[in-house]
Amino acid sequence: MPAKRSARIHRPTPANLARLARVLAGGGLVAAPTETVYGLAADALNAKACRGIFRAKGRPANDPLIVHVASLAQARGLAEFDAAALSIAKVFWPGPLTLVLPKKPGVPAIVTSGLPSVAVRMPVHRLFRQLIRLSGRPLAAPSANPFGYVSPTTAAHVQAGLGSRIGHILDGGACKIGVESTILDLRYPRRPVLLRPGAVSREALQAVLGRRIAFAGNTISPAHRAAPAPGMLSRHYSPRTPVSLTRKLTRAAINRIPADEAVLLLEKPAYPTGANIFWLTSTGRLEQAAQRLFAMLRKLDDGRWRGIHAETLSGRSSLAVAVNDRLARAAAKK
Ligand code: TXA
Ligand code: MG
Repeated sequence: MPAKRSARIHRPTPANLARLARVLAGGGLVAAPTETVYGLAADALNAKACRGIFRAKGRPANDPLIVHVASLAQARGLAEFDAAALSIAKVFWPGPLTLVLPKKPGVPAIVTSGLPSVAVRMPVHRLFRQLIRLSGRPLAAPSANPFGYVSPTTAAHVQAGLGSRIGHILDGGACKIGVESTILDLRYPRRPVLLRPGAVSREALQAVLGRRIAFAGNTISPAHRAAPAPGMLSRHYSPRTPVSLTRKLTRAAINRIPADEAVLLLEKPAYPTGANIFWLTSTGRLEQAAQRLFAMLRKLDDGRWRGIHAETLSGRSSLAVAVNDRLARAAAKK
């Protein structure tokens, strides 16, 4: 049997960064860390390179890509920023926030799936920004996982999912935030819509915009149906093992769960635990829960468990909302 080819994992040395930037400038693909999740990057202005992203991920052509930039000037070359968009960018960039804005002509149609809008984000991760700067290109990058599966938060996750389909992975360790960026649709400044919850909260965005932001939730409003965010569709971020959700798993409820089904809790329980009980934090810190969520879903998806019973997080902080959103998608029926 021929050995399965695997991607090269590069340590983040200056020489490797320069080499990977040349790969990107030459139209190649590189998986690299951002503060949210690992992205599969290509030159956003090179349509052929971007086609490679869709091919590697098995991603349908109607699911547009996010373009990553290292400066506001670079972003303004891709999208139309009005006063509201500028005020948001000034407060939240660089960081885990993506803005959907009217696109400028230079952005290839494949990047936006033919939509007249483009999603742009300025990441804060030092390594990803260096790749943008050194390659001299804005980088289109969806999460570096096969389409529909759980997003990767380590180089090993990328290798496991896409290793046979891509050549290069930049290893920057585990991602700090662990859930994908907040996506804010600012195409119509008087009607801002939150397309995906993330670490940047709706409340914080509303405070800067000075107006209410609608939440698209799972139902895409008629106004947005023409340009849906496929990340909003259910059955995304899904492990193969069936996931079911409960608001709060009591000790009695946990005791009724069969031993071959896994239990995923926010916090380590105080009572003696079983072999099928897992938790996202030992401290109850939401930052840690979000950071570990995808790694835990992958671990529980190793074929050992017939099902995963997860507890949703209480509270309305941005990370609790984002974690519950990803859990709901993981639990969505295929
Ligand atoms: O944190 C993140 O955003 C990560 C890192 C790598 O930056 N990227 C990420 O990309 O999560 P992806 O492709 O997995 O999710 C991007 C979402 C998709 O659901 C896509 O539909 C939506 O952004 N999107 C992109 N362009 C859009 C547009 N013009 N209008 C509406 N939604 C758009
Ligand atoms: Mg994704």
